[in-house]
Formats: sequence, C-alpha cells, structure tokens
Amino acid sequence: MVVVATPFSCGLAARVARRLGEELLLLERRVFPDGELCVRIPSRVSGTAVIVGSLYPPQERRLLELLLGIEALRGAGASEVVAVVPYLAYARQDKRFREGEPVSVKIVLKSIEAAGACALVTVDVHNPKSLDEWLAIPHVNIVPYKAFAEYVKGLGLSSLAVLAPDKGALHRAEGVARLVGAEFDYVEKRRDRVTGEVTALPKELEVEGRDVVIVDDIISTGGTIALAAKCALEAGAKSVYAACTHALLVEGALDRIYAAGVSDAAATDTVPSPISKISVAEELAEALLKLGL
Ligand code: R5P
Repeated sequence: MVVVATPFSCGLAARVARRLGEELLLLERRVFPDGELCVRIPSRVSGTAVIVGSLYPPQERRLLELLLGIEALRGAGASEVVAVVPYLAYARQDKRFREGEPVSVKIVLKSIEAAGACALVTVDVHNPKSLDEWLAIPHVNIVPYKAFAEYVKGLGLSSLAVLAPDKGALHRAEGVARLVGAEFDYVEKRRDRVTGEVTALPKELEVEGRDVVIVDDIISTGGTIALAAKCALEAGAKSVYAACTHALLVEGALDRIYAAGVSDAAATDTVPSPISKISVAEELAEALLKLGL
C-alpha cells in the first residue's frame, strides 16, 4: 500500500502513513497560465493507493485536486484507490432546502466514485445517511469520540458536563460524555415571537458551577459555539471549552468564540488551523486496515 498526500493535506497524510508504516508520496501540483490545475504522481505505483485529500476552502480546488489525483493514480499503476476525505465539503447541502437547489453532497460523492475511487473514508460527515444514499462503493464515516475524549480528559476538569449546540449534534456529546464519564445534554434555541431575540438554554441539564465542554462537527463563523457558550455561562457554568471536528474558521471565528467566554477551543486535524491539535490519524489508519484492501 502507498499513501498519497494531496498538496494541502500533507500533514494528516504523513501521520496516517506513519501509523500504517507505509510509504508516503506527495502529489505534485501545478497551475497553467489560464488557471487550470494539473497534478502528477512522481513515480509508478503498484497495489492499493490511499489518497488523502481534505476538501476545506477553497473547496472546488481541493475537490479537483482529489479527483485528478485519483485518476492519475489509476493511470500510474494503482490496482485500486481508496479516497480518504477527512473533511467532506458540501455535506451540509444534503437535501433541496428550497425548490430549485441542488443536492450538492450527491454530486461531490458521485464525482469521487466516478473518478475511480474503490472506497471512501471520511470523518464526521454532516449527515452520514448521505454516504449510504449516494455511494455504491464501500464507505466509512469516523466520528472521533475517542480523540475528543482524550482531549477532554487532558483538560483535567472536575465537574464536567458535555453539551451539543443543537439536538442534531447530541450523539457527538453523548459519545464523548460516555467515554469520560460525564453527563450530557443539548442546547435548545428559543426565539421570542415578539422581539425576535434568540436565547438558548441546556434542555434539561443543570450546568451551574460546572465545567462545560461544547462539542460540534464544524466551527465556521463560530456563531453556533458562541451562542451555546454564552448560554452555558449565563446558566452559571464555571468555565466553557469548545471542541469541533472541522475547524473551517471563517475570519473572526476564534475571536467570536473567545469573546463569548470560551476558555480554550480545539479541533481535529481534518482541517489545518491554529486549534487543530487533536489527531484523527490513528482512527483513519484503523479504518483503512478494517477495509482490508
Ligand atoms: C450546523 O448544522 C453545523 O452542525 C454547525 O453547527 C455549523 O455549521 C457551525 O457553523 P457556525 O460556526 O458558522 O455557527
């Protein structure tokens, strides 16, 4: 097996290759004067190739590098190509929210399969059902409960509560809470029908005097975490920490989170960022071994 890193996913690809004890190849990339991309596998390959390409912004470029890389690997001799896509972009558009809109995740998944991938491994995809719905190839979605739990344990907090910022994210908070032996809940948003003001409160859990860790899949603008943090602090939490899988961190996101009272924020390394200090390399390597390719 050989692990191939697309140019902007080298760090995580190297960590995965190291854990597998496999060779790492770097995909070469160049841009033609008209802006078109080209990639190149620097040597012939044989057997299974694993290509690691995270689709963080600019998503369209990252997607094309991945698709071209898969095709190039087939041409360079790989018998099969496994696509490891740590952050799957466009996953939030998993249905036609408004008439006339596309199911974007369907197109992204089908293009990876059409490029020649024989399997897909991804991390904490927004809606895991999308994978079953739109892929015919084997697929694995890793939710990094274990990695989050290690981070939370390392914080050394005493009276811990794990919160999800909304009901849909409750499984993540629950998975982490069970591993660290803490209680969990989700934040319920309420809109005042007269003033339009949005307030939020933990659904049932009492957080007064407790250290709260909020766990979510994505921090983009930071608005969701900031609102949940503010609500936990207003409800009397002693401190608030935030952890997410994919730190997209649109400009100002970290300021927004820290201004809301978050003491520390951490993310996995599916997307490189100043807070990406939790590695999913071990879980990716395990998933690849389980695929048995
Ligand atoms: C929403 O469905 C997601 O799970 C995240 O909560 C959301 O994408 C976070 O975005 P932001 O940081 O912009 O609030």
